[in-house]
Amino acid sequence: MNKEEKKGKNIEGFFYIDTYGCQMNEHDSEKLAGVLKEKGYKSINNIEKADVIILNTCCIRENAEVKVHGKIGYLKQYKRENPELIIGVCGCMMQQEGMAKKIKDMHPHVDIVFGTHNIHEFSSLLESAKEESETLIDIWGEKEGLIPNLPTKRETDHKAWVTIIYGCNNFCTYCIVPYVRGREKSRSVMDIVNEIKELASDGVKEITLLGQNVNSYGRDLDKEIDFANLLERLDQIKGIERIRYMTSHPRDFTTKLVKTIADSDKVCEHFHLPVQSGSSRILKKMNRGYTQKEYLTLVEEIRKYIPQAAITTDFIVGFPGETEEDFVETIKIVKEVEFDMAYTFKYSQRSGTPAAKMEEQIDEEIKQNRLQKLMDIQSNISAQKNKKLIGKTVEVLGDGESKNNADRQTGRTRTNKIVVFNSDKDLTGKLINVKINKASSWTLNGDLVR
Ligand code: 5AD
Ligand code: SF4
Repeated sequence: MNKEEKKGKNIEGFFYIDTYGCQMNEHDSEKLAGVLKEKGYKSINNIEKADVIILNTCCIRENAEVKVHGKIGYLKQYKRENPELIIGVCGCMMQQEGMAKKIKDMHPHVDIVFGTHNIHEFSSLLESAKEESETLIDIWGEKEGLIPNLPTKRETDHKAWVTIIYGCNNFCTYCIVPYVRGREKSRSVMDIVNEIKELASDGVKEITLLGQNVNSYGRDLDKEIDFANLLERLDQIKGIERIRYMTSHPRDFTTKLVKTIADSDKVCEHFHLPVQSGSSRILKKMNRGYTQKEYLTLVEEIRKYIPQAAITTDFIVGFPGETEEDFVETIKIVKEVEFDMAYTFKYSQRSGTPAAKMEEQIDEEIKQNRLQKLMDIQSNISAQKNKKLIGKTVEVLGDGESKNNADRQTGRTRTNKIVVFNSDKDLTGKLINVKINKASSWTLNGDLVR
């Protein structure tokens, strides 16, 4: 479609957003999409036809960065073919010292570069970019106050992310997040409640509360409120069927919080509790603030109050100084807890973090072997756990057509497991019951119970 044709249809053009990393970034991309939509742009799946391309970047591990550089380089050909194309690069990677300049020098075809603290500037940057041929760089350090609310173009109509706290104060020694996302800043209860009420009236059934450490919620507010109090309040909002949250820190998971979740109707029985390592010695070097024993006590407590709970986790293998004995402790905790699922990562050196300067960095080959061993053991445990659900009927919130099989529908249990089932109707956003008849490490299959 050329410019004149687009004008006739009241379309400014098409946009394509490529998002790397976590749900925080996914949610930021929804805000960028909201801004673009308000300006008259439409989303398009074909990157070649886009008039605005945004890469929302992640820097948590080196491979995320490598991918972004590769993608920016690849976009050069599109700019050559269409000089009016606007390419924007934003997100966590841009908050790293010197990165914006590096992008400008390495990839002069990029039009705008901005960071995580000024996504509300995106609209005006986009306008300026139309007049400017040089790369515009606008990166903010951390400022007082919160980023203003922005229009949001949500990916789905029945599920929504809601940020409750920005940033992180934990400074785990391997992690770059506190440096690129800043210190903890909670949104007010009123702001969160109003947003969720509005979502409920728009037909949203499930919300996921977002924050790098949701358990810290409220610590920086004047009002006496914590995460458990917030959940109690949100549990009362009519229309919302399920409440989830990402991510919580095991150190801050109090008995009060476990009991609040047990007593609530809507907060789901899924606990994502990143353990990172089973070795108390490594946990100390990581600055995680708990020991293996304390983590196991928390798991015990969750299972005491909520026996049906699913527990998932994150692991890092090959942290500096990790010995075979330390790794054995990781395997031990995997077998003892029997996690429903685990995300497993090889330690990645992030410049500026304390662990990057630690001695005894681990060889790539050792990291790879440990990762493989851990994945194999966990995958067996996941399959065993899921097989126990065969013959049981579970409540599923429909997510629509299965990606791999258009005749089948997919959805998730309250414990966050993916379920694929037959249905001749679109059940997106509907709560249904499914009887499980097959299970693997990653998915459950079943029949709709009518
Ligand atoms: N190397 C490898 N994995 C990391 N994570 C965070 N920082 C690093 C790093 N430097 C993992 C942690 C965290 C998840 C989001 O990413 O497991 O929980
Ligand atoms: Fe990173 Fe630790 Fe904060 Fe999570 S809690 S974002 S791992 S510093």
